[in-house]
Amino acid sequence: MTTITGSYHVAEFAANLQAEIRRLDAQVDLFWQTEKRLLRRHGLTDGMTVLDCGCGPGRLLELFATELQGLSLTGLEIDPILVDACRQRFASTDHQVAIHQGSAEQPGLDPFSFDFIVMRLVLEHVTDPVAVLKSVASLLKPGGRIAIIANDFEFHLRTSPSVTELEPLYEAYCLSRRQDGGDPCIGRRLPVLFTKAGLVIEGYEMEVSHSKIIGDNAFFQSEGVGIPAELVESGFLDQQTFENMIRSWKRMLKDPDHSIMRPLFVGIARLPSDAEDVSGIPDPKAAGNQNVIADHAEGRGDPNYVGPSSDTEQKLANLWSSAMKVSRVGVQSNFFDLGGDSLMLEQLQSDVTDRFGIQVPMAVLFQYPTIEQLAVHLDNNMASSAGNAARNGYRADPATHIADASKKNSVSDRSRHPLNGTAQLQSKAERHREALSNKKRRAKRV
Ligand SMILES: C[S@@+](CC[C@H](N)C(=O)[O-])C[C@H]1O[C@@H](n2cnc3c(N)ncnc32)[C@H](O)[C@@H]1O
Repeated sequence: MTTITGSYHVAEFAANLQAEIRRLDAQVDLFWQTEKRLLRRHGLTDGMTVLDCGCGPGRLLELFATELQGLSLTGLEIDPILVDACRQRFASTDHQVAIHQGSAEQPGLDPFSFDFIVMRLVLEHVTDPVAVLKSVASLLKPGGRIAIIANDFEFHLRTSPSVTELEPLYEAYCLSRRQDGGDPCIGRRLPVLFTKAGLVIEGYEMEVSHSKIIGDNAFFQSEGVGIPAELVESGFLDQQTFENMIRSWKRMLKDPDHSIMRPLFVGIARLPSDAEDVSGIPDPKAAGNQNVIADHAEGRGDPNYVGPSSDTEQKLANLWSSAMKVSRVGVQSNFFDLGGDSLMLEQLQSDVTDRFGIQVPMAVLFQYPTIEQLAVHLDNNMASSAGNAARNGYRADPATHIADASKKNSVSDRSRHPLNGTAQLQSKAERHREALSNKKRRAKRV
């Protein structure tokens, strides 16, 4: 039997189970419209294999099942009371959702089996978040994404006019959760925790709900007075502050222009490809899973693996392994020999545009079917564009370049120092050509 550790225990925490389930459901609904768009933007698409880790009574799974098409859904939950509640939710529906009892630390699920994993308001309750991230990430398929949605109680619910007693309330809440081994301010730490767990950060954002958009009622249902009352009972909050808070809250609501807002933090990460140099790469065995499914063992890997030797090759290798859903691809291997198909090629084409800011015609992808060849083509292309930019003064050309100053490889970024950029790019292309001919020489010797 799994022992429940950390700072969320539904049996002790909520005097009335049904009320706590309603609160958890309302908390999912409060953010759903924003969250759905955000998760989609970060890769959640119809037909994926999805895990909700720490699914509670299963409201998010229900929304996934009803609003996205053809997902294969699994819920993992440590608490048997909530496992039952979740199973009951789906018992009388047509939705096929697998609910497992288990912990994020010891999920007992097959590694490399999910395209997308969501962990919502769970990481703040565990005692070792880095170990949990490693363990849960080991369940991702190569190229899959993990989305951590977390609170940070210094950036919790705020109102206008201000309810000043919310400050001591959150302080009391944080103290009590920390005593149980959780971190109620974990939202701000997500990128650091990802790195410590050996994951690659793909995004870090806030999602925000506002009473003017979603209505006051959504906030009443998702907040409630259960937790403040519990804090008074356990001695973390004094009765007077609690009563003042209720009075201030009611006063705030009488203001015709009142506002209630609440943010959550969302971090998106993925496993590194084999060639990426990230320490602490999750070990699937750490998750208590013994039957590791290595894609090489399934023949999906690349038997003639030669690692990347330039920045462009490295980036292309990441895109290829993501498009082909394998852990790594060698730079000399032919896309089509490895089982690449036209759908994967389309995915690759759009990924190359996103990553390099260059639209590469399909014909070019057919013409240069290895990472090595395509990297030379891209480096030359970027070098000549930067050269033109230096001579003519750069203007983003929508037909060939996506102007995105945030991408450090994009021509628009380099064009701020056109002469420097050109020199760097030209020497890089030369280095690349040299590396390629050296490699060919080495290959002939073997
Ligand atoms: C605040 S609730 C959030 C539930 C749900 N994710 C949601 O957004 O409504 C936290 C959930 O995490 C579960 N949980 C806590 N620690 C866990 C662990 N180590 N492994 C799996 N689930 C855990 C709790 O039992 C609870 O269902």
